[in-house]
Amino acid sequence: MAAILEIQNVTKTFRGGVRAVDDVTLAVEEGEFLTILGPSGCGKTTTLRMVGGFEFPDAGRIVLDGRDVTDLPPYRRPVNMMFQDFALFPHLTVAQNIGYGLTIAGMKRREAAREVEEALHTIELLDKADRRPAELSIGQKQRVALARALIRRRRSCCSTSRCRRSTPSSVNRCRWS
Ligand SMILES: Nc1ncnc2c1ncn2[C@@H]1O[C@H](COP(=O)(O)OP(=O)(O)OP(=O)(O)O)[C@@H](O)[C@H]1O
Ligand SMILES: [Mg+2]
Repeated sequence: MAAILEIQNVTKTFRGGVRAVDDVTLAVEEGEFLTILGPSGCGKTTTLRMVGGFEFPDAGRIVLDGRDVTDLPPYRRPVNMMFQDFALFPHLTVAQNIGYGLTIAGMKRREAAREVEEALHTIELLDKADRRPAELSIGQKQRVALARALIRRRRSCCSTSRCRRSTPSSVNRCRWS
């Protein structure tokens, strides 16, 4: 089976000489659920940020669906990110956060609202649709971030967050596609 994500000999050194990622190579196949474990500061988030296009490698290649995306910006990559600190938009409601990507992609308002409602139902937050992120628990924020990352049904999704606050059932049911 062809890999949908390939990280090929990727290296990243930050200013000051911190070698955050050192010659990492791995491949993820369709349907595979990969978890990267390692001590704090070992380069997990930096690796995933390079997959998402939020950092660029000094050496090596990122290949998504057979296409070299190493130099492409985030919005031109077929991948969604769920950030370690969730990065929810504080001024938007839960529903608006989840639907943001659909709106940007030009989906019709009624269709987007239906998708968002389905997502809210899946993460069991229908009753919190109009709240702002500051009015949520950490676990609820995490589920909103997960729904926002998955709602566009892209072929790959990276999460730099531990999902320990999402119940196993809500994570499983979030595998919409
Ligand atoms: N923008 C940056 N500038 C300089 N150094 C950075 C930057 N981002 C990360 N680093 C450093 O790179 C190394 C890897 O960081 P990274 O965030 O990838 O670790 P991590 O494995 O995700 O850690 P954690 O489990 O704590 O989230 C760390 O030493 C960190 O301090
Ligand atoms: Mg991290």
